[in-house]
Amino acid sequence: MKPIQVGLLGIGTVGSGTFNVLKRNQEEIKRRAGRGIEVTMVAARNLDKARKVVGADIVVVDDPFAVVNHPEIDIVVEVMGGTTLAKDLVMQAIAQGKHVVTANKALLAEHGNEVFAAAQAKGVMVAFEGAVAVSIPIIKALREGLSGNHIEWVAGIINGTTNFILTQMRDKGQSFGEALRQAQDLGYAEADPTFDIEGFDAAHKATILSAIAFGIPVQFEKAYVEGITKLQAVDIAYAFNLGYRIKLLGIAKRTTEGVELRVHPTLIPAKRLLANVDGSMNGIMVKSDAAGITMYYGAGAGSEQTGSAVIADIVDVTRLHTADPAHRVPHLAFQPDALSDLPVLPMNEVVTSYYLRLRVADQAGVLANVTGLLAQAGISIDAVLQREADEVGGEGSTQTDVIILTHDTREGTMNGVLAQMQALPTVLAPIVRIRKEELA
Ligand code: HSE
Repeated sequence: MKPIQVGLLGIGTVGSGTFNVLKRNQEEIKRRAGRGIEVTMVAARNLDKARKVVGADIVVVDDPFAVVNHPEIDIVVEVMGGTTLAKDLVMQAIAQGKHVVTANKALLAEHGNEVFAAAQAKGVMVAFEGAVAVSIPIIKALREGLSGNHIEWVAGIINGTTNFILTQMRDKGQSFGEALRQAQDLGYAEADPTFDIEGFDAAHKATILSAIAFGIPVQFEKAYVEGITKLQAVDIAYAFNLGYRIKLLGIAKRTTEGVELRVHPTLIPAKRLLANVDGSMNGIMVKSDAAGITMYYGAGAGSEQTGSAVIADIVDVTRLHTADPAHRVPHLAFQPDALSDLPVLPMNEVVTSYYLRLRVADQAGVLANVTGLLAQAGISIDAVLQREADEVGGEGSTQTDVIILTHDTREGTMNGVLAQMQALPTVLAPIVRIRKEELA
């Protein structure tokens, strides 16, 4: 049988990883797919650079639409990134009846509903294993492996750059800037690293995970997003001493009122496997009713690591493209006419526990005032740590740090209490609030 023809849009970090692994493992991949897989066209901005990667036998063009519109191309692999030109190309590929494989989490989190509807109407596949936690087959695990379960929550370290930065700061004492530069040199970071450090990359991925876990449309615009740029080393250290690690988590949780979809720095107990996912590695925990807690671990970024996921999708498409579209795995795991309208909850409605750090005057009654406000709001305290003033502010200091861990409460309730606490004359600096998840 004639090999399936693949057109690559982009031959940067991900495109070259995909190309190289496909070439290196072509015989083994063919044995799995049942048919050869050939990259026959590549679109690139820099033709000379592209040629150096793919050699002389493959057509290299600078017009990506030439790939998308080419009648011989069966699968368009979009690994160029972005949400404007990439979207036009993906929509045009679908319109041309081509299957699409993409690693573009931003595109799917922001425009996935439109892309999947178009693909559904045209009877083509849009596969996206490379969009989330690359080397971990989490899309396959959620859409297929756990399809008998009622999934309760998904919580993951799904951005390698920020996990690398937090690990380097904690273990090597590196500054935020040094660690970020190193992550960029190693190829983990997005072209614009603010996507990583401000949490948007993780939020794109969490949005996709929420959709396939609960069968809801992708709703990135409703995600709560907070990155790691405001984290202070002192809180990482206090959390450590209290038996917690701070990780940037992407959380999708189903409650009876709706879905929580949020990304923020989070204290997690040091004894959880997830707390020990360090460096650029990703880890995802899934809680479902029948399987219980399952955990997935692997590289979350990298050239061949992403290539691995992209090729798995190409193999899936090769195996399934002749199947009746109604018998393929639905794009969002649930049949398109069976998606749920469970709302994504506003952050005020989210229920979680908290780490609070207050810089206070070292006077009688201060702690009682603070804990009194929590009690009035019905917020139960899990632990309190008051530091010696001398240790915090030096010899003779009249200020100290009070750290409070709370039990679960509504974010809106906590916001109200924080405003009251902040107004106390004995609270001397902006209160630090970091959310906490037990992941039990
Ligand atoms: N910038 C991303 C990360 C790359 O650091 O995880 C993979 O999406």
